[in-house]
Amino acid sequence: MKTIVSPSILSADFANLENEIRKIEPYTTWVHIDVMDGHFVPNISIGVPVVKSLRKITDLFLDTHLMIENPIKYIDAFSSAGADLITFHYEAAKDKTIETIEKIKKNNKKIGLSIKPKTQVDEIKDYINLVDLILVMTVEPGFGGQKFMDESAKKITEIKKYSKNDNLIIQVDGGINDKTAKICIDLGANCLVAGNYIYNSDNIEKAIKSLI
Ligand code: DX5
Ligand code: ZN
Repeated sequence: MKTIVSPSILSADFANLENEIRKIEPYTTWVHIDVMDGHFVPNISIGVPVVKSLRKITDLFLDTHLMIENPIKYIDAFSSAGADLITFHYEAAKDKTIETIEKIKKNNKKIGLSIKPKTQVDEIKDYINLVDLILVMTVEPGFGGQKFMDESAKKITEIKKYSKNDNLIIQVDGGINDKTAKICIDLGANCLVAGNYIYNSDNIEKAIKSLI
């Protein structure tokens, strides 16, 4: 499978989002949207209305990363807003994991399941073959521009061990640059999220291309 780059608009200029999307469109097919609620993570970012507005101006695949408590409550809203993939955190859903997966499926969206650095793959092994994407956080979620955690990336190997799906997307998010991307790809990741590295570079085309 071809490696996907999903630029995170968390590092973009929120006052000029359309322009920020136009900057990446020629070089990628995905865009990563970080939704934070100030409870699951200690930061607040953007929500449903922004997804809805972005849907109107771009055909990029809207990769929506929910860092929110009780994600099941918001699946319908993000689906109607136009998200293509909805990734929720296992730590936020726990005993509602299956129901949350079912709800995303009912909305005909791609399903993503994410784990924070301290969550072990063992805890989600029963769900790996029920979703389209596993997101391995390589920083503590909440902020852009943090340092990549090598230990977390090692979980990629374990996920591959449990997966029976050749098309499973293994995504990494947090501290991705040209060097850490290589570590993740070598371990088996096929989807790279990068915010700071792409949006704070002076050559976006070069930055995106240097990851794959
Ligand atoms: C962090 C977010 C990331 C963030 C990555 O909680 O989930 O998507 O934008 O930012 P960088 O690439 O700067 O580490
Ligand atoms: Zn993210």
